[in-house]
Amino acid sequence: DESKLGVKGLVDSGLTSIPSLFIHPPETLSSLKPAQPRPDSIRSIPTIDLSGWDSCRRPSIIEEAGRAARELGFFQVVNHGVPTEVLDRTITAVKAFNEQPMEAKARIYRREMDTGVAFFSNVDLFHSKAASWRDTLQIRLEPKVDMAEIPEVCRNEVMEWDQQIQRLGGILMGLLSEGLGLSPGKLQELTCPESRMMVGNYYPCCPQPNLTVGLASHTDPGVIAVLLQDQLPGLQVKHGDEWLDAPPIPGALVVNIGDILQIMSNNEYKSAEHRALANPNREPRVSIVVFHNLSNLDIQLGPLPELVSSDKPAAFRQFTMGEYMRAFFTNELNESLAHYFKA
Ligand code: SIN
Ligand code: FE2
Repeated sequence: DESKLGVKGLVDSGLTSIPSLFIHPPETLSSLKPAQPRPDSIRSIPTIDLSGWDSCRRPSIIEEAGRAARELGFFQVVNHGVPTEVLDRTITAVKAFNEQPMEAKARIYRREMDTGVAFFSNVDLFHSKAASWRDTLQIRLEPKVDMAEIPEVCRNEVMEWDQQIQRLGGILMGLLSEGLGLSPGKLQELTCPESRMMVGNYYPCCPQPNLTVGLASHTDPGVIAVLLQDQLPGLQVKHGDEWLDAPPIPGALVVNIGDILQIMSNNEYKSAEHRALANPNREPRVSIVVFHNLSNLDIQLGPLPELVSSDKPAAFRQFTMGEYMRAFFTNELNESLAHYFKA
């Protein structure tokens, strides 16, 4: 099975044009050209300095995070407390996983998305018509998988990363909770017990980056996502009908709102469409996302009563996490889940 070799396998075989399976429709390809920035347009997503998040600076940080979550659904954070060495080690480890001999990756190759540890290629095929120029390593962090299942080349680094992102995730949830006028612990309480999934994306050099994408446009399904990217650009966020860059900033992490939080916040916060361009550089691009989800399938979801009023009626119906997961895995409408659960 060819696909076990991943996109990196294709690149290593020396091909100079991309297989037709990877060519995206004209409406996608025309959107890849840089938009003519309008005079009033925002050029990039905001960067928020988290230093002093627990001090008298907290109210202004909450205000900034809340504004970014409302307007764009995306922001970057600096001074987040995760040491630079840990950022570097994690990128290096995910790169090392992808650069192992094929056999090592093929051993954990899977086609279903809900396993604990999996290597796959072109998982976009679930949602999009064309394949994408990327390989993926997915590891469920919580509920925990058997440690021995995590590939040894990145095992310690993945576990260290999880500890750091679990801590930072708690801080971010607190800020975003207060940004909605809720108590600092409210969002975490509601999303407990939590589930965390790590997705390591590896974007090999693409010989025809204007014909495909690294990752097709999508919204993230969960509560929030925290993303680490290396020094190569590629991540873009949709704002209105424009695509904004989320450029790599040394030491920064990207934070975004997922569909569940958009729904819980009754549309106060936005779960924004985003994508990654195919990587035109000789060096591979690496990004690592941790999705903060909910693990209990019986949990009831919908706009929080605190955020519903006669002025702002519920924009979504009530549903269970189980119903949501089923929709996620079978939704062939290629529409966002937030749309699917409209009131
Ligand atoms: C993602 O949306 O999951 C990752 C985007 C990126 O690689 O920057
Ligand atoms: Fe995403």
